[in-house]
Amino acid sequence: MVENSNVKTLIWDRKTLKLIDQRKLPFQKVYVECSTFEQVGAAIKDMVVRGAPAIGVTAAYGVALAALQYNNNNDNTDISDFKNYINKSIQFLSSSRPTAVNLFWALDRVKNVLEKHNSISALTEALILEAEKIEKEDVQINYKIGQNALKIFKKEKKLKILTHCNAGALATAGYGTALGVIRSLNSMGLVEKVLVDETRPYLQGARLTAWELEQEKIPYFVITDNMAGYFMSKGEVDVVVVGADRIASNGDAANKIGTFSISVLAKYHKINFYIAAPFSTVDFNTKSGKDIQIEQRPEEEVRQVLGKKIMPDYMPVLNPSFDVTPAKNITSIITEKGVVYPPFKKNLLNTFNSL
Ligand code: MRU
Repeated sequence: MVENSNVKTLIWDRKTLKLIDQRKLPFQKVYVECSTFEQVGAAIKDMVVRGAPAIGVTAAYGVALAALQYNNNNDNTDISDFKNYINKSIQFLSSSRPTAVNLFWALDRVKNVLEKHNSISALTEALILEAEKIEKEDVQINYKIGQNALKIFKKEKKLKILTHCNAGALATAGYGTALGVIRSLNSMGLVEKVLVDETRPYLQGARLTAWELEQEKIPYFVITDNMAGYFMSKGEVDVVVVGADRIASNGDAANKIGTFSISVLAKYHKINFYIAAPFSTVDFNTKSGKDIQIEQRPEEEVRQVLGKKIMPDYMPVLNPSFDVTPAKNITSIITEKGVVYPPFKKNLLNTFNSL
C-alpha cells in the first residue's frame, strides 16, 4: 500500500493497478496495489473498489494484468495456451460480484479482443489498450450524462437534490454518473443543496459521496436513510438522482439497497426520480427486474459499523446489497445518448441505436 495525496479512483501504469481503498475513506487515503488478476478480483469482492462502472474498468485492467502475468511467467509461445489463461482470468473476475452488469460488459469487451490477433505480444498490447480505452470512454460518457441532465431542469431554479449511495468519481473512472449530474448542475449554479443518504450498511453516502461533495464545495447534508420521507414531506427535496447497477430492458433498475424505498417515497410526494447511468449499465438481455441477481453480502456488514460491533453474533441479520426500482417509479433515465423517458422498453432501445 502507498500513501497518495493526489486522489484518483484508479491509477494504471502498465505494470500495476493502484486502487484507492474505498473501505478506508474518508479517514485515510491509501492505495491498494494489484499486480495480478487474482488481486484485482479480491479487491472487487472485498469492496476496495466498488460502483458499477468502476468495477467494469477495474476488471478490464485485471485481464490486462493477466496478460502481463502470462508473459512474465511463461516461455511458452503457444497462443491457445495464452488464450486459455486469459479466459480463466475472465472467468475468475466475473465471479467477483454478481449484480453490476458493467463488470460482465467490460469483460465481454476484452474477451472480444482475443479474436482480433494471433500473437501473444500483439494480444497483450491489444488487451492493455482496450482496458485503457474503456477507462477513457467512461469519463467522457459520464461527462455527457452530466451535460444531458441540463436539458431536464429549468435554468432559473436552484435544486434541493437527494441522492443515495455513491455514484460519483469513486464509483466510476471519474466524474461520476448521478454525482456527475450534480456536478454539472452545480457548475451552472443550479444546486441549492444535496441531501446525502448515509446508505447503511456500507455507508457509501456518508463516507464517499459526502467526501466527494466536500472536495467540490457543493453544499450538502448527510442524513440517515430513514430521514428521506421526513425531508420530502417538508418540501426539502425537489428531485432524486441516483445511479444504477443494472437496468433491465423494461427500465426496472437495480441499485443500492434502499433505492426502491426512496422511489416509493418520491412517488408518494410527486417528486421526480431520475436514474443517471451509461448504456453499459443497460442489460438488454434481462427482461425485467425479476431476472436481476441480487448480491447477498456478509452478515458482519450489518452487525458492525466501521468495524465496531453493534450487536452480538447470535442475532440473525439479512444483507441484500441491492434492490430493484420498478420502471413505473422512474421519471427518466439520463444516459450519454440522451434522456430516456417511458415507455422504457421501446425508448431505451431506440436511444441506444441512435447516433
Ligand atoms: O455495492 P456498491 O457500492 O458497489 O454499490 C454501488 C451502487 O449501488 C451505485 O449506486 C451504482 O453502482 C452506480 S455507480 C455509478
